[in-house]
Amino acid sequence: MESISIKSNTHMTNTLTDEQLSTIATLQLKLNALGVEGHFLPDAREGPVITLYKFVPKGSTRVAQIENLSQDLAIALSAEAVQVKRLAKESAVGIYVPNKVRKNLDFLNAVSSVYTSDAKIPLLLGMDVDGKIQVVDLVTLPHLLIAGSTGSGKSTLLNCILASLAYCRTPQQIQLVLSDTKQVEFTHFVGAPHLLFPPASSVYQSLEQLEWVTEEVDARLKRIAKSASQNIAQFNAKNPDAALPYIVVVIDELAELLTSTTKNEDEKIKLGKLAEQKLGLIAQKARASGVHLIASTQQPTVKIVTGSIKANFPARISFRLPAESDSRTILAKGGAEQLLAQGDMLFLSPNSPEIQRIHTPFTRIEDVQQAIEVACRRN
Ligand SMILES: Nc1ncnc2c1ncn2[C@@H]1O[C@H](COP(=O)(O)OP(=O)(O)OP(=O)(O)O)[C@@H](O)[C@H]1O
Ligand SMILES: [Mg+2]
Repeated sequence: MESISIKSNTHMTNTLTDEQLSTIATLQLKLNALGVEGHFLPDAREGPVITLYKFVPKGSTRVAQIENLSQDLAIALSAEAVQVKRLAKESAVGIYVPNKVRKNLDFLNAVSSVYTSDAKIPLLLGMDVDGKIQVVDLVTLPHLLIAGSTGSGKSTLLNCILASLAYCRTPQQIQLVLSDTKQVEFTHFVGAPHLLFPPASSVYQSLEQLEWVTEEVDARLKRIAKSASQNIAQFNAKNPDAALPYIVVVIDELAELLTSTTKNEDEKIKLGKLAEQKLGLIAQKARASGVHLIASTQQPTVKIVTGSIKANFPARISFRLPAESDSRTILAKGGAEQLLAQGDMLFLSPNSPEIQRIHTPFTRIEDVQQAIEVACRRN
């Protein structure tokens, strides 16, 4: 692609492509036409899926005023969606525009970051706008809730996380409990040596497995206390030959578990409450026992994302959601309604005030199968 070099009056130079210059011109014209004054910095940060442009508003323009124009800017650029967000520690507003040609991040190109990570439970989330691979330690979160409309990329991310754990960690380090009441997403994990049980395919099976997990948590806490340790990390350091593996419980579609499809209304409420209660018990003892939860939900409604679920899952990922109000339920902020389909997400960590925009790795069934083959051979 041909490129032109431009120089700003602040002596900052950057090389912008023709397409980027044309995008800046379109955005500038549209903003002026809508009564917003200011100028663009000659700077564009192109990630695999979106490019960040920086706009410095003039005088009395309020950031919220520009944020409210994201739909108009998307129309001006004929783009799927445009996100507008204040950039921390900068005097500019970020305008995130989808690239005309999207480069999917391949699972195999990203998985090496999990090998080299020193995290106890490394979660491969994807690539940020600067092209950096993001891996977080689930132990520090300590539980993760993933929301997003149908087809937005929740199961693909779960497959990515699970396949990378299977590749890069042994069953002596990490064990898995999977719940997939939709019975479509986790079938290819059958046979993985990290599984404590075959993936649960019904609410009853899932509840049985959660019951086992709560008993395991209590048994672990007793063992840990007996060795005069406070948590799994101290216990494992003291007992390297009898180290306890971390356990990750993954639930694809929390709604299925919390509002089970049984015909009997009383039974339905009872099972849902039971599941929520068990998740609460596990969640509260996680740091000490080494058992961590990841759950996904298509429905960001208060019926599923209840007060107790919110309190128990402090880390959140949101893929695209229909409305700003849905985004607020999950992230306590708007933004998820401005995301693209297929693996574009916002990550809210309890350890950072900034919400990060990340593109998840494209993970195919073959990637998962290969990861499990490698894990089986190694075992
Ligand atoms: N990171 C990605 N890169 C490229 N394409 C993706 C990515 N993630 C998802 N997709 C595409 O989007 C499709 C739907 O993704 P996925 O099944 O993960 O959605 P979902 O959120 O689990 O949907 P549902 O709620 O219906 O289960 C995938 O089949 C894939 O084609
Ligand atoms: Mg899914």
